[in-house]
Amino acid sequence: MRRATAEAGINIALVKYWGKRDPAANLPDVGSISLTLSDLVTRTTVRFDPALERDRFVLDGLPRDDARVVEVLDGVRAIAGVLHRAAVSSRNGVPTASGLASSASGTAALATAAWAAAGLDPAAAVDDPRFLDLVRKGSGSAPRSLLGGLVELDKERGRVHQLCPEGGWDLAMLVARLTKGPKKTLSRQGMAHTKATSPYYAPWVAEHPADLEAARAAIAARDLPLLGAVMERSTCRMHACMLAADPPLRYWRGRTLDVADAIEDLRAQGVGAWYTMDAGPHVKVLCAAADAPQVRETLSALVPPDDILEGRPGPGARIVGEGP
Ligand code: PMV
Repeated sequence: MRRATAEAGINIALVKYWGKRDPAANLPDVGSISLTLSDLVTRTTVRFDPALERDRFVLDGLPRDDARVVEVLDGVRAIAGVLHRAAVSSRNGVPTASGLASSASGTAALATAAWAAAGLDPAAAVDDPRFLDLVRKGSGSAPRSLLGGLVELDKERGRVHQLCPEGGWDLAMLVARLTKGPKKTLSRQGMAHTKATSPYYAPWVAEHPADLEAARAAIAARDLPLLGAVMERSTCRMHACMLAADPPLRYWRGRTLDVADAIEDLRAQGVGAWYTMDAGPHVKVLCAAADAPQVRETLSALVPPDDILEGRPGPGARIVGEGP
């Protein structure tokens, strides 16, 4: 039995996913398109060990009990025929459970490391439906972190494919981190609540394929203004759908809107920058890499420098270390 270490970047959805058609299999009601980022990564080591009586998980140096980690390990054990428990140690370069997509990078890194540690071929994993199933059960957006650059997750079978490799378009994504604590409603619960109570849920699902189509065309043409416009529309439609739930679900704070306003003002001055928000108050800004310094300067007027994170299109989940 071997030890394997994997690294995976967070991914930020440009065309959002919100809502599940099959909560047990964690299959979505809508597809999604995302950008995998460099720099904001989770690094995870898995070692199956005959001496262990239970799985052990250490996150950023602290022992944790996490049923989702055990679920991913159980999935890999069942496929590989491994019986041993595992020692898992993980370092998150992004704040955990704050709406900054750390569950996606965490699940992708964990599943990739466990797969390799169990003796399975990590290069073939992304095309293996059994692997995709267990990654998706960990987090609905996690399969997108398996690939680099711009990635589409299809709603029918939960497959992922790359629309543009990480070196194929000189983009940047800046994140304005507006709070540090965990998010108030986990996305799983938020999605179920929205689907059950929002009168805007059915229109959200019905209109969604047009956003995917427009984003695919924008990416194929490397048309950033078009992609940025689709991205803003998609996040606003997703949040509108949540705001119409009963009781309303609101992840935005006042500062979220202040940052969005500042990005619109910057755009009015001729700098191509577009915002998107997920299940948290933070604002992520997409721009050309050359414009990142100007976007950072704009964000600096509203957010302390330490709370501005920056990434470029990055690679998909990969093995970075192996040993006995
Ligand atoms: O991966 P989950 O189940 O936490 O869902 C993520 C949902 C959003 O981040 C709000 C949108 C998306 O497509 O990433």
